[in-house]
Amino acid sequence: MRVLLTGAAGFIGGHIRTALAARGHEVVAVDALLPSAHGSAPRTPQGINVVDVRSADAMIDVLRGIDVVCHQAAVVGAGIDADDAPAYASHNDFGTAVLLAAMHRTGCTRLVLGSSMVVYGDGRYRNAAGVTVIPPARTRQDLDAGMFDNRDPVTGQPLTWEAVDEDAPLRPRSTYAASKLAQENYALAWALSTGGSVTALRYHNVYGEFMPRNTPYSGVAAMFRSSLESGQTPQVFEDGKQTRDFVEVRDVAGANVAAIEAQLPGFGAFNICSGQPITIGDVANVLSEACGGPPPAITGNYRAGDVRHVVASPVRAECELGFRASIMPANGLRDFATMALRDCEIAGPPHV
Ligand code: UD1
Repeated sequence: MRVLLTGAAGFIGGHIRTALAARGHEVVAVDALLPSAHGSAPRTPQGINVVDVRSADAMIDVLRGIDVVCHQAAVVGAGIDADDAPAYASHNDFGTAVLLAAMHRTGCTRLVLGSSMVVYGDGRYRNAAGVTVIPPARTRQDLDAGMFDNRDPVTGQPLTWEAVDEDAPLRPRSTYAASKLAQENYALAWALSTGGSVTALRYHNVYGEFMPRNTPYSGVAAMFRSSLESGQTPQVFEDGKQTRDFVEVRDVAGANVAAIEAQLPGFGAFNICSGQPITIGDVANVLSEACGGPPPAITGNYRAGDVRHVVASPVRAECELGFRASIMPANGLRDFATMALRDCEIAGPPHV
């Protein structure tokens, strides 16, 4: 197939490009090389067309003859403060809207969209009686007292996590999350009105080779790696028992290939995860051991707005896309300890 890949010079896009080429697909690779991700004077990687998805004319140009668009271009991270909001809205939402309109104009009817587990907001919890509960946000008082678990609003007892499936309520909690959900909603509306198809892949915590090194917008795995490389102790927030699903970037690339080849009709959203939950404390332990570094420090500090547990159900992706992760976190994170990270002098926060 002839695939238009946006965000092709990014961490995830780069791996998708490799995976698509290995499957014999023809890739038209575009990237805006944003300074917030690639530095203020980026060198254009080989084979990349420097195109901003917000430019309708340029998109119409590159869309000619394309069978499917794999849209990965986005400003990522949680958003540091409210000043970042216009950049998320512009690149992620306006950009997706321009892309969808250009697809309509050029007759391209298939989209695979890089989405995120952040659209769920909170994870899913059950109480001691086994009943699913939507917990209120954790209070500052609890967090300051070292009570990190979400509580049952009725009994006050700590709640246990459950795997989140794709039908869970969507409650974005950050600017980034709001922009990813809006992307999905624009794509859904486009699919309904044009008869096109959209497969939205909700990535869980992605790690792997060429992950951007320590920036305020990086995920925790890269932060722990950066600390260990400079001989520092990884700082684990809360009690280290907060749980996530870490998925290796080559599996994420494989999920995109599966979605492109599955050619599902209509709109579908899928968790892209390993299906093997791991605590942040264990992520730090695996990396420290594999790097031969100091053991992590469990700090008891917390980040405002952090979610306690987000653990994913991999079932729908396996049943409908035929995607199953092949790299489990215990092995993948150990290997990640010695993989190359991407160095770049990021040029400040994202700009519109
Ligand atoms: C992350 C991403 C989010 C992405 C999602 C799914 C960031 C900032 N967040 O969310 O954009 O969509 O994964 O891929 O990129 N922690 C520590 N020590 C640290 C840093 C973090 O213990 O030095 C803890 C945090 O408190 C949190 C956990 O690690 O409990 C995960 O943090 P992070 O990697 O930022 O990820 P998410 O919030 O899960």
